[in-house]
Amino acid sequence: MTPSALADVQQARSATPVRVAVAGTGYWGVNHVRAFAALKGAQLVAVVEPNEAARQKALGLAPAARGLATLEEALAAPDIDALVLATPAVLHAQQALAVLAAGKHVFVEKPMALSIADAEALVAAAAVAKRTFMVGHLMVHHPVMRKLDEMIRDGSIGEIYYVYATRVNLGRVRKDENALWSFGPHDISMILHLFGMVPDRVSAQGHGYLQKGVQDVVFVNLDFPDGRMAHIQLSWLDPRKERRITIVGSRRMVEFDDAHPTEKLRIYDKGYDRPPEFTEFAQYLTIRQGDIHIPRVDTTEPLGLECRHFIQCITDGTEPLTGVREGLAVVRVLAAAQRSLDAGGTPFLL
Ligand SMILES: NC(=O)c1ccc[n+]([C@@H]2O[C@H](COP(=O)([O-])OP(=O)(O)OC[C@H]3O[C@@H](n4cnc5c(N)ncnc54)[C@H](O)[C@@H]3O)[C@@H](O)[C@H]2O)c1
Repeated sequence: MTPSALADVQQARSATPVRVAVAGTGYWGVNHVRAFAALKGAQLVAVVEPNEAARQKALGLAPAARGLATLEEALAAPDIDALVLATPAVLHAQQALAVLAAGKHVFVEKPMALSIADAEALVAAAAVAKRTFMVGHLMVHHPVMRKLDEMIRDGSIGEIYYVYATRVNLGRVRKDENALWSFGPHDISMILHLFGMVPDRVSAQGHGYLQKGVQDVVFVNLDFPDGRMAHIQLSWLDPRKERRITIVGSRRMVEFDDAHPTEKLRIYDKGYDRPPEFTEFAQYLTIRQGDIHIPRVDTTEPLGLECRHFIQCITDGTEPLTGVREGLAVVRVLAAAQRSLDAGGTPFLL
């Protein structure tokens, strides 16, 4: 057994918490600070943030943690086992490589990297480092996704025909990332998870209305090797806030509406049935207009579940649901969609 594997086993057997630092405590990182500060099995020991005001704000949420101004200080600290990177996307790949090289576990916010080459370098480095590598594909950790997993497993959705997702609002305009790279990882990771495979053809169209060259509105199409398809609409320039994914299956149709405060999942017993016998072509398919069911789903905050999964994977030595390979698959789709965007919508093969 290698020393790092032995260290993992010892950590798993001991009741000592995983010592975590959160790097980047801006708009999103403070949520990680809050979540890890409250998480059983983890000890938030530091926040890493160059901006003094942002660092102080984060420390206000985690008074037991210490403040550091640079990632290098955290990498050199022997009392930090794992780093959460909620820094600007342009820094993710380089910082995640540095965390692995320092022998620490890493949780990197989406998008994991901004190019396929960088994402592949992370897969290779994670294999050598033998540390836990998790990507912040939050929606895959949503309790509604567990319910959908169950429905796919027990056959109640039937064969998934197609999926479409809408992630739009009048929201935070970014200048370094377009709506594809900012919002797309959420829906792409959910769709890859639901289909259990990666698309082989991707096309995208979009436009930058507010800033030239930074698309505010993007429409993405994914074609899968077995003929199934998915469509994603992404925008921060829209009158309504929508966070919806619709799954059309052979037995049921399902709508996951994450913007709804309570009724996040609707199951439509609707579709077409094929009667065993028919005499006329018009009878070949009969419409089924069944009930609409709104099941009770776990209301635990997805971010808390995601952070707990990271700690669990470190202590058990298991591969995260959103590990580095899944991160690479999502980056491949994003990169193909970006190529298509740049080419005015031409489809690209993966
Ligand atoms: N999972 C989600 O739902 C979700 C939501 C929003 C943002 N995000 C992701 O979180 C990441 C951060 O986004 P944001 O909106 O919080 O951006 P932000 O600009 O508000 O925050 C980034 C922070 O990182 C700090 N920073 C810059 N360089 C640093 C360094 N070298 N070391 C440590 N800190 C550094 C900045 O000072 C800033 O405070 C992005 O990757 C974004 O896509 C995820």
